[in-house]
Amino acid sequence: MACPLINLPFFFLFMFLPFSTLAQTSKNISLGSSLTALNDDNSSSWTSPSGDFAFGFQRIGKDGFLLAIWFDKIKDKTIVWSANGDNLVPGGSKVELSNGGEFMLNDATGKRIWSAQSIGLGVAYASMLDTGNFVLADRSSSNVWDSFGEPTDTILPAQILNQNDKLFARYTATNYSRGRFMFSLQSDGNLTIYTTKFPLETNNFAYYATSTNTGFQVIFNQSGYLYLTARNGSVLNMISSNTISTQNFYHKVTLEHDGALRHSAHPKTAASSAGSPMAWSPLTSEPSNICLTIEGDAGSGACGYNSLCSYNDEGPTCQCPYGYTLIDPNDVLKGCKQNFSFEFREMQNTEWSGGGYEQFTPVDEDWCRQNCFDDCFCAVAIFKNGECEKKRIPLSNGRMDPTVGGKALIKVRKDNYTLIPEVPNTKKKDRSTLILIGSVLLSSSGFLNLILLLTTYLIVFRIAYRKAKLIQPYRVISDMNLRHFTYEELKNATNEFEEELGRGTSAIVFKGVLAPDNGKSVAVKCLVARVGENDLEFKAEVSAIGRTNHRNLVQLLGFCYEGEHQMLVYEFMSNGSLASFLFGELRPSWCQRRQIALGIARGLLYLHEECNRKIVHCDIKPQNILLDDSFAARISDFGLAKLLKIDQTLTTTGIRGTKGYVAPEWLNRLPITAKVDIYSYGILLLEIIFCRKHFEAAAEDEDQMILADWAYDCYKQNNLHQLFKNDHEAMHDIKKMEKYVMIAIWCIQEDPSLRPTMKKVALMLEGTVEVSAPPDPCSFISSIL
Ligand SMILES: *[C@@H]1O[C@H](CO)[C@@H](O)[C@H](O)[C@H]1NC(C)=O
Ligand SMILES: *[C@@H]1O[C@H](CO)[C@@H](O)[C@H](O)[C@H]1NC(C)=O
Ligand SMILES: *[C@@H]1O[C@H](CO)[C@@H](O)[C@H](O)[C@H]1NC(C)=O
Ligand SMILES: *[C@@H]1O[C@H](CO)[C@@H](O)[C@H](O)[C@H]1NC(C)=O
Ligand SMILES: *[C@@H]1O[C@H](CO)[C@@H](O)[C@H](O)[C@H]1NC(C)=O
Ligand SMILES: *[C@@H]1O[C@H](CO)[C@@H](O)[C@H](O)[C@H]1NC(C)=O
Ligand SMILES: *[C@@H]1O[C@H](CO)[C@@H](O)[C@H](O)[C@H]1NC(C)=O
Ligand SMILES: *[C@@H]1O[C@H](CO)[C@@H](O)[C@H](O)[C@H]1NC(C)=O
Repeated sequence: MACPLINLPFFFLFMFLPFSTLAQTSKNISLGSSLTALNDDNSSSWTSPSGDFAFGFQRIGKDGFLLAIWFDKIKDKTIVWSANGDNLVPGGSKVELSNGGEFMLNDATGKRIWSAQSIGLGVAYASMLDTGNFVLADRSSSNVWDSFGEPTDTILPAQILNQNDKLFARYTATNYSRGRFMFSLQSDGNLTIYTTKFPLETNNFAYYATSTNTGFQVIFNQSGYLYLTARNGSVLNMISSNTISTQNFYHKVTLEHDGALRHSAHPKTAASSAGSPMAWSPLTSEPSNICLTIEGDAGSGACGYNSLCSYNDEGPTCQCPYGYTLIDPNDVLKGCKQNFSFEFREMQNTEWSGGGYEQFTPVDEDWCRQNCFDDCFCAVAIFKNGECEKKRIPLSNGRMDPTVGGKALIKVRKDNYTLIPEVPNTKKKDRSTLILIGSVLLSSSGFLNLILLLTTYLIVFRIAYRKAKLIQPYRVISDMNLRHFTYEELKNATNEFEEELGRGTSAIVFKGVLAPDNGKSVAVKCLVARVGENDLEFKAEVSAIGRTNHRNLVQLLGFCYEGEHQMLVYEFMSNGSLASFLFGELRPSWCQRRQIALGIARGLLYLHEECNRKIVHCDIKPQNILLDDSFAARISDFGLAKLLKIDQTLTTTGIRGTKGYVAPEWLNRLPITAKVDIYSYGILLLEIIFCRKHFEAAAEDEDQMILADWAYDCYKQNNLHQLFKNDHEAMHDIKKMEKYVMIAIWCIQEDPSLRPTMKKVALMLEGTVEVSAPPDPCSFISSIL
């Protein structure tokens, strides 16, 4: 069974060295003694008479202290036994042999962490023996407890394992908590090594077994032989016999963290080590290649789930297959996960009869979500009255009905979630080209242009949608990520549209409360403008909006589409709009303003580049930025440019309402791209920096009426402090302020191609990318007015 790894040449060197004494002398540790873990690496210990072994505290990294026994004379102080591998203790903790004979480990607050379960009460003294055994003895010097009887992962010469004794591998080389392998002499006489159902300690598959039924003891004798004996003492199985002198070498057999039962030796003194390294050398290892030995269709193996194990001289190494990454980059043993993430979509009153495989109760919804999230078989979790049932696909016999109650939490892929074919990209291109051609051809009057613009806009939309419909007629129906509200429900939620939050040309917004959802507050936006004729079109746009999910966007929760009642239901933002925050009585702090500027940039970056379907907002202004509970900026009304075609086209031509924020290309008949948002963002950024509206008719000086103009002049004249006269915070951070002004000036360049992308803006704001001196934004003002 044993497999020799190396035949150490120095074995012969020491065969003839004189015998040293084997005397079992011991120093007595009297009742009332104690040791304290000290943070200055100065903890004392109890050593054996020969000094080979010591008992006491060892510091484990920064994590705390381990109460342990170790080889004290060698450099790496190899630990052979420990009391609290699962529960390291802080400095100040104390191990004590009390006057009553109790042996215990308490942390600094006096909390009991561990104690020796000694038989009988007559402990008279303790002793660290030269064998590495720490014993509690009674008055007649017989042991009432010893560390050899409670092994952790290592056995030493003279140590014996009896039936039902176990060794547990530690988790990693430096983490002493119980890992995923177990060596045990079973009561049926079979000596086995198992993988465990980590983090539980129950066994899984055996990857080593002597298949004996008379095994009685595992003996590691003082000459360094490891074998299994029967009750009558006969050797049933020699596990490791490739031994070298125990006089000149320390020996140990450890169930290593990599799953191998390894017998190794270490020279006792430097003098005896001529030609051999001052380190542990393996003599035998069982199994020899753990990666090939662990088989079976369950368990996490040597490397964790979804991982690959390969073996070389140093032991096994773990790596992830393509498309997977480490769950925890600092802990390869945790295994791998698929390299994409999931999120949940809720559906109320929904369930399936089939597919369930695990049920938990009572739990809360967060727990249910997390459990399903962590379990790759879980496709849906049904949560109802504190009960969580996990289901795997295929899901049979699904139903939606108010009598069902509860909700289905559907796990969907976060990125690359492509239920809907990506028609919009081609559509966008067609549209801008057409706008350009149309506008150039009919260049007589601005008004005519406007009409033409509208018409082409509409025609192209029609065509695109017809195309989309042909390709995938069920695309919205199969999409389940938004809640479908009835008009009645929303009427009740808003208390018959009682509290108006705001009103624009296209919609009126009311506050609502969803009673069935624990009274969650929502904003219900009733669209005034008539949106598309059929609900498929409406739902397609709405579900595209609903698919977005970013912490700097206001999340769409659901919609209502019942004839003339077309409404969108959003999360409620408790802190109102950026406009009222920025231009209100109290000036928000500079730090808050910076956070907001960055938040908006990130939200826009997501819309432009990161979400499934790229969205150009077309109407960035402080009224469309809302603030949540923590004053984080949340962009609202995105995606409406498409939903409310007619109305949006009007406002974004800069004639009404949003004057000042629109990019010059709207009027210069250039194609409309994401760069229009960059322009608006630039203006908004200036407003955020200076807490001032872009256009102030009542300004002291005519030069100061238009903020962008004034800011650029001041920047050019190196005179920015003139702008924040009363803003002391800003004066203290003038470098950063100046940088922000420069970014804003880059954003409002008249030539769209000079404006940075949102990604670059975010990087500049974060300070990752340097900001160069911006050119004059040119005649942008004349193009607006
Ligand atoms: C340790 O204490 C026991 C009991 O009190 C005594 O018999 C023994 O001689 C002591 N050993 C040493 C080395 O002091
Ligand atoms: C350790 O303790 C000794 C004596 O108690 C003291 O002289 C020494 O400075 C301590 N070492 C550290 C690192 O604190
Ligand atoms: C050791 O590993 C276990 C299991 O992963 C973990 O729970 C524990 O925090 C780790 N301990 C230390 C000290 O890192
Ligand atoms: C010993 O255990 C192994 C693994 O569980 C098993 O395959 C084998 O049959 C057992 N042998 C005996 C004699 O019980
Ligand atoms: C240890 O076991 C081996 C093999 O059975 C035997 O040759 C040797 O004498 C034993 N040594 C001791 C000290 O019992
Ligand atoms: C010891 O026990 C084993 C198994 O029970 C048996 O095969 C062997 O013959 C016995 N040896 C002696 C000397 O009794
Ligand atoms: C996982 O995804 C990240 C980013 O999406 C990528 O950088 C990384 O290379 C991927 N890893 C593997 C193993 O596919
Ligand atoms: C999305 O999937 C495609 C093909 O399956 C792949 O090429 C692309 O890298 C994926 N993108 C992300 C962000 O994972």
